[in-house]
Amino acid sequence: MGGPDDRALKLYDEHAKTCAPDDFWGQVKRTVNGKPVDDAQIDMIVDCVRRGLALTSKDVILDLCCGNGALTDRLFDACSGGLGVDSSPHLIEIAQSNFSRPPARRYVVGEVSEFAASATDCSIFTKAVCYGSFKYLNNDTALRLLQHLQARFARIDLIFIGNNADKALAKDFFYEGAYRPGVENAHDSFLGMWRSEDEFSALAAQCGWKAHFHRMPPAFYAARFCYDVVLTRAALGTA
Ligand SMILES: C[S@@+](CC[C@H](N)C(=O)[O-])C[C@H]1O[C@@H](n2cnc3c(N)ncnc32)[C@H](O)[C@@H]1O
Repeated sequence: MGGPDDRALKLYDEHAKTCAPDDFWGQVKRTVNGKPVDDAQIDMIVDCVRRGLALTSKDVILDLCCGNGALTDRLFDACSGGLGVDSSPHLIEIAQSNFSRPPARRYVVGEVSEFAASATDCSIFTKAVCYGSFKYLNNDTALRLLQHLQARFARIDLIFIGNNADKALAKDFFYEGAYRPGVENAHDSFLGMWRSEDEFSALAAQCGWKAHFHRMPPAFYAARFCYDVVLTRAALGTA
């Protein structure tokens, strides 16, 4: 999975083509009742990632599943730039037209676990982020990604994985009668895969990462059902 036949890889590519070229938040479904969220919501995300990663001007970040780069660009403002990787050729084209400023701010098409396995410039990155997207990776792909980040990206000591759907709350999310057993495991649906904090910790621990959980303030539109995770390198035997 995570290969070219994985439906999750095409979900956003196909959706984004139905949106206006400048509807950056609509393209990545950052909407409430079909309308793009406002700037205050975006500022909350940027602030939370900046603080979670303790970004400084010395950092170079790897944005995994960067989408159209609209969020990435705001994170690049808080550091020395970096690279965004996403499987959607359409979204990367939008990122390149609107936000690319090589060599400091670059965007490439790629499946993130394959990118992490094959990248040659791993040592330039000091931190990584994966916002609103980890839920589209099934467990095999997620494991491969975290293992490669651990083994090949020696300078990355913090990874921010934001907006993860909380499995403990999945049944509360659906309107009465709309819940279908197993829907929380469908990484290739628009809601993606729901994981409990315990499942997330176990997944991270298998790859040598320790998970630290955070919740967004209640004013954040997705606060009720989602949590953020910061991964740090686990000391051997303590993951
Ligand atoms: C909800 S969008 C989030 C984009 C961006 N991180 C943001 O927060 O604005 C999810 C993104 O994940 C990408 N994606 C899903 N699975 C992927 C994979 N295995 N490798 C690379 N990109 C993937 C999709 O193409 C899509 O752009």
